[in-house]
Amino acid sequence: MTTVLAIETSCDETAVAIVNNRKVCSSIVASQIPAHQQYGGVVPEVASRQHLETINVAIAQALEQAQLHWGKIDAIAATCAPGLVGALLVGLTAAKTLAMVHNKPFLGVHHLEGHIYATYLSESTLNPPFLSLLVSGGHTSLIYVKDCGIYETLGQTRDDAAGEAFDKVARLLKLGYPGGPVIDKLAQQGNPQAFALPEGKVSLPGGGFHRYDTSFSGLKTAVLRLVQQLEKDGGQVPVADVVASFQDTVARSLTKRAIACALDYGLDTIAIGGGVAANSGLRKNLQAAAIKHNLRVLFPPLKFCTDNAAMIGCAAADHLSRGHTSPLTLGVESRLALTQVMKLYQPLE
Ligand code: KG4
Ligand code: ZN
Repeated sequence: MTTVLAIETSCDETAVAIVNNRKVCSSIVASQIPAHQQYGGVVPEVASRQHLETINVAIAQALEQAQLHWGKIDAIAATCAPGLVGALLVGLTAAKTLAMVHNKPFLGVHHLEGHIYATYLSESTLNPPFLSLLVSGGHTSLIYVKDCGIYETLGQTRDDAAGEAFDKVARLLKLGYPGGPVIDKLAQQGNPQAFALPEGKVSLPGGGFHRYDTSFSGLKTAVLRLVQQLEKDGGQVPVADVVASFQDTVARSLTKRAIACALDYGLDTIAIGGGVAANSGLRKNLQAAAIKHNLRVLFPPLKFCTDNAAMIGCAAADHLSRGHTSPLTLGVESRLALTQVMKLYQPLE
């Protein structure tokens, strides 16, 4: 059994957790949403400063909640890519310093690999291969999970991430930030068939459409045009119907692609992750389609879907059990493909 203290500071949550392989001993998530709300989105400089102010307290809380001392920790991990550089640096530097001070192995973790591992926290018997649908504020990807560190990205968004589309549509309707939860709630009072919106197909050079890639920027523009037209026509904009139609379009688009991908690659399980996994429209749509096609869909609890450090610790524990550690010279990267994960590790000497 491997006990890892993990840190996640890639965006706007300062998170620290202690995990014992797939078991969560403690998980602290300090959200910065109130600090960014007044700007209508995440401000990188504000995020870095907030991480700096919170990180030491969060580490102390994680140890206290788990009732563990440093002697019981086998390794220290932190997200090193992708994400906001200044934000990542705070967590990575803290982890490297602790690893040096306490003389423990150190591991850098890819944020998306963490999101994939989140499913293991609630599904202790799950093993690859399976399909991972990651839908967050920064990412929308369909990933073929082959083994620890071995991934193939089968589909992704060509422009906006799913959560980003929710946030942008909420902003144009002046519904506040983050937009996903507000839209989800409001959509329940609206008619999802009220307006026909474009699903965002991605054309292939030789004709036809990409089976797995998505594009949400056209959908966002279509919502803008629709609202402008409704305003021009006079009368009140039926906001609930607009967001219900938008949400349904996103849900159908993601469901169609995830199911096609699972069937094409002969994968019987789809594990969902990221903040948009909370969306009731997506859950309903995907669940219904999965039943029809005899597939299994796993929706981990929301606390593991949104950014947290337990998922980072879980990934690190698996890498460590295979003898992987990272050099203390490892830096942060704002972008890093999931296929490059193994570059973060060296064999244990
Ligand atoms: O995974 P996450 O917490 O952070 C990252 O982006 O990594 O995801 C945040 C995103 C935001 O864009 C937020 O609007 C969206 O997830 N979100 C939702 C819902 N709850 C959060 N989107 C749709 N429906 C929801 N219920
Ligand atoms: Zn994330």
